[in-house]
Amino acid sequence: MTFVVAEPCIRCKHTDCVDVCPVDCFYEGVNFLVIDPDECIRCGACVPECPVEAIYPDDELPDKWSEYLEINARLAPAWPVITVVQASLPDADEWAAVSPKGSQLDPAPAERR
Ligand code: SF4
Ligand code: F3S
Repeated sequence: MTFVVAEPCIRCKHTDCVDVCPVDCFYEGVNFLVIDPDECIRCGACVPECPVEAIYPDDELPDKWSEYLEINARLAPAWPVITVVQASLPDADEWAAVSPKGSQLDPAPAERR
């Protein structure tokens, strides 16, 4: 069991979620974050922090975003960990209103800070 970052995060990447995670299990891509399912302790602390409601427990993940369970598990080992809040992406407010936007997910890792 794990928590999962779903589509609303794409091109927003507010990063408020990383500040509260007790086990530092968020990993950063260019325009999206994922949670490592092997590290998440399912505390739920990150859920209310996300301004775009992108984070769900895996058993409450909306059907339209079911693929994000696999996406988080696959990308977490390939991306650098993120533990410090960063500025949201420049067009976050515009992209928050866009759905679907799964095609916008960039699989490249964020550059290490
Ligand atoms: Fe971290 Fe808890 Fe969120 Fe899992 S549920 S990603 S452990 S804050
Ligand atoms: Fe993404 Fe929400 Fe965290 S937009 S980076 S899941 S606060």
